[in-house]
Amino acid sequence: MNTQASPQSTTQKPKIFVARAIFPEALAKLEEFFEVRSNQEDRIFSSEELQKELSGVAGALVAGSERIDAKALEDAKDLKIVANISVGYNNFDVQAITAAGVMATNTPDVLTDTTADFGFGLLMATARRITESEHWVRAGKWDKWSIVNNPLGMDLHHSTIGIIGMGRIGQGIAKRALGFGMKVIYHNRSHLSDADEKACGATYVSKEELLRTADHVVLVLPYTSESHHTIGTKEIAMMKPTATLINIARGGIVDDAALAQALRENKIFAAGLDVFEGEPSVHPELLKLSNVVLAPHIASATEKTRRAMVDLAVENLRAALDGKKPPSLINTELFKA
Ligand code: DGY
Repeated sequence: MNTQASPQSTTQKPKIFVARAIFPEALAKLEEFFEVRSNQEDRIFSSEELQKELSGVAGALVAGSERIDAKALEDAKDLKIVANISVGYNNFDVQAITAAGVMATNTPDVLTDTTADFGFGLLMATARRITESEHWVRAGKWDKWSIVNNPLGMDLHHSTIGIIGMGRIGQGIAKRALGFGMKVIYHNRSHLSDADEKACGATYVSKEELLRTADHVVLVLPYTSESHHTIGTKEIAMMKPTATLINIARGGIVDDAALAQALRENKIFAAGLDVFEGEPSVHPELLKLSNVVLAPHIASATEKTRRAMVDLAVENLRAALDGKKPPSLINTELFKA
């Protein structure tokens, strides 16, 4: 048995399952209202184990590591809500969850600024070769200092940033870019309102124009079957050889094998990646390259924001099990007031 039952397991409280370790205060709060089976040891469950854990519980708190689909829900006859501790919910098969009559929720808004900060930071680290330079110092190479041969980077100020996916986080990055005097272009499924475009100083362009003209391409779009491999060999070939590519969206939006090859052949200047196809595995070729900055999916990882995400997921779960509409319900058609 991998999960721990809460001390109140003999009461008549509704049973819930918490799939990943959460902050002790949030767990204690849940234990006031529910009989909690939790995974504070933070082991990632196999799909068979997940299916078993969802059986007999009324609610579940999960994260991107848990794929919630028809198979996971097969024995989840009592389940009313599955609350994701994440704004992205590509780990949910929303159609299957809705067909099972289960409410699905995510954690929008509370992570917007933290994630935008990180996206911009990753862009800076990538364009200015900050992590590579740090490795250079640690390797005792500073005495090789030279005007022409230091890790020379690319400027952000007064360059053009192209943002693909102009939701809340994309707009947050655009606003940060304005402070650097950057020209902001974007591509999105739909145009922003005039007011939002003005607030971001952003101009809508086609994906092709964005790839051809941006000095820095930042990906912030949701992962769907349509956005799979939005960036592959063909798209990279359109980019400037001096351009950087930043992915803080989801693995699978970039063809990582194609990117590794392009970086190896210096087809673009550098990439910064917070997300990977098949993470936590990273394409082995990417690990060998110095012109890529790698991060372990930490865009939302500040203590304040992670706490806010867990708190919102708890709020969603409590609302659903209290017969109320969860604040960030995804499948709104399921809620009957
Ligand atoms: C999200 O919430 O979707 C971020 O990727 C953090 O996990």
